[in-house]
Amino acid sequence: MSAKVISGKEVSARIKQELALEVELLKTKYDIIPGLAVILVGENPASQVYVRNKEKGCELVGIYSEKHILPADVAQDKLLSLIEQLNNDDKIHGILVQLPLPEHIDETKVLEAISTDKDVDGFHPYNVGQLMVGAAKFVPCTPQGIMVLLKESGMDLVGKQAVIIGRSNIVGKPVALLLLQEHATVTICHSRTKPLSEQTLKADVLIAAIGRPKFVTADMVKPGAVVIDVGVNRLPDGKLCGDVDYAAVAEIASAITPVPGGVGPMTIAMLLSNTVKSAKLYNNIVD
Ligand code: GUN
Repeated sequence: MSAKVISGKEVSARIKQELALEVELLKTKYDIIPGLAVILVGENPASQVYVRNKEKGCELVGIYSEKHILPADVAQDKLLSLIEQLNNDDKIHGILVQLPLPEHIDETKVLEAISTDKDVDGFHPYNVGQLMVGAAKFVPCTPQGIMVLLKESGMDLVGKQAVIIGRSNIVGKPVALLLLQEHATVTICHSRTKPLSEQTLKADVLIAAIGRPKFVTADMVKPGAVVIDVGVNRLPDGKLCGDVDYAAVAEIASAITPVPGGVGPMTIAMLLSNTVKSAKLYNNIVD
């Protein structure tokens, strides 16, 4: 294996340590405890794991957190009134509604109900628009984490070819905007891009966010590329694997993120960071 392994586990641990110090300072100096409310609708097992990890992260850095679990068949109005209540709760600086939501719930309506000042996921259409013009207060967590990992890889993005596989609102589209802000040339591919490898082979930075196990094979990767794997797929044997055929791609990439221990822990670290940022903005603390 020749690629440098970019460890999200290590980078996120460092960020969480720094956040813990910041939270401690907010408490002692200003008597402020940042607070995060997480809403989970239904019993999606993957979502349950994500929410548990978010709670654990809060506990580790000293952020107050509360979890609201609603049944899968909850009425949309009930969810909207919970959000309204949290919008008006002074203890809470960040509100996160875990996605995906059950089919009968209008996701856009729910995301629009979250106060733009507490939208630590950066999914409210206002914050999405702010990201588009390069003025985002809250940048979505996974794309933000990817950018930190790219920085860690040491690659200068200016003028580089960045190719993203996946066009989701959570990862593909926002990370494209962040890469553009760093002056990369950006291509967004998706399941209907043909031929896909023609695009991926030109990538200096390749971001895989398609949700298909080992989809990116070595013959799709330019030698020396930095490869970021956003996928979290469960194999029949219960093991986790990414969207990238890690062992083979690591032979030709210059740097690669593992799964687990790559992008996943960064998403949580960025959520915690956004929550601390929100608490500071709410209290007019600038540093
Ligand atoms: N589902 C998958 N990723 C995310 C995320 O970053 N935030 C929320 N709210 N739901 C998700």
